[in-house]
Amino acid sequence: MSVRNAKKLPMEELAPYLFAMPDAGQVLDPRTLFSVEQPIELEVGFGKGAFLVEAVPAHPERNYLGIEIDRALTLYVATRIAKRKLPNVKVASGDAGRLLSQHLPEQSLDAVHVYFPDPWWKKKHRKRRVFNEVFALHAARVIRPGGMLYLATDVAEYFQVMLTVMAGRPEFVPVHVGREEQANDPTQAATNFEKKARREGRPVWRGRFERNATSVITNQHSLNEMLDRVTEENRHDETQWGQDVGKEILPD
Ligand SMILES: C[S@@+](CC[C@H](N)C(=O)[O-])C[C@H]1O[C@@H](n2cnc3c(N)ncnc32)[C@H](O)[C@@H]1O
Repeated sequence: MSVRNAKKLPMEELAPYLFAMPDAGQVLDPRTLFSVEQPIELEVGFGKGAFLVEAVPAHPERNYLGIEIDRALTLYVATRIAKRKLPNVKVASGDAGRLLSQHLPEQSLDAVHVYFPDPWWKKKHRKRRVFNEVFALHAARVIRPGGMLYLATDVAEYFQVMLTVMAGRPEFVPVHVGREEQANDPTQAATNFEKKARREGRPVWRGRFERNATSVITNQHSLNEMLDRVTEENRHDETQWGQDVGKEILPD
């Protein structure tokens, strides 16, 4: 069954699991959204919500926000959260770039997760990509020192862009950058798109970056090494350029 046809709970039952995108000029202190004060993490573009619904219950000691531009997906995932009565997860429909750049205060998050963001294959559409220089700049602003930025994609070219952007952000230390081979086990995957990549035997590129207290780069070598590798791999992927693959159907 498609997300659009899936049965959703009525709004009054979803309300405790939703938050509203603030109006222009308004600041949103995310601590005000939860009854228990504990570290807050944000997932950007959660799609069908496997990370928020399946992985998050293992972390009741953290609060999670999700932001997704597609309203039907937001209500679908809010229904999944409400059915499980997850007290530490809230989602909103809106543009993650706007939430980060205009509404979240400095050092208000402990982590930001960006998993399998839309690649927007066509060159003229790439400006629609959610992860870019401006996003990284604001991630550096809203993630507290010691907090994390998690990135993952199955698109070598997008990972190359991500690493290039991160190489220009001295506020982050690369803790882990790598290419994961097919694990043949979609149950180990955190998101719906990761499960799909694993089912189809495609590798996943992953980066974890720690927000620095001091802006001193200590792991630049591994970042440069991985950038060389992903650049090389991207050369082989270039047949994808110019293809109008459109927006992928969201996987289960
Ligand atoms: C390729 S899907 C990946 C979904 C999920 N992260 C996963 O790994 O299964 C990308 C998602 O990001 C959402 N998205 C795209 N641009 C966005 C933006 N500017 N703000 C919030 N969500 C966005 C899309 O609607 C889509 O659900």
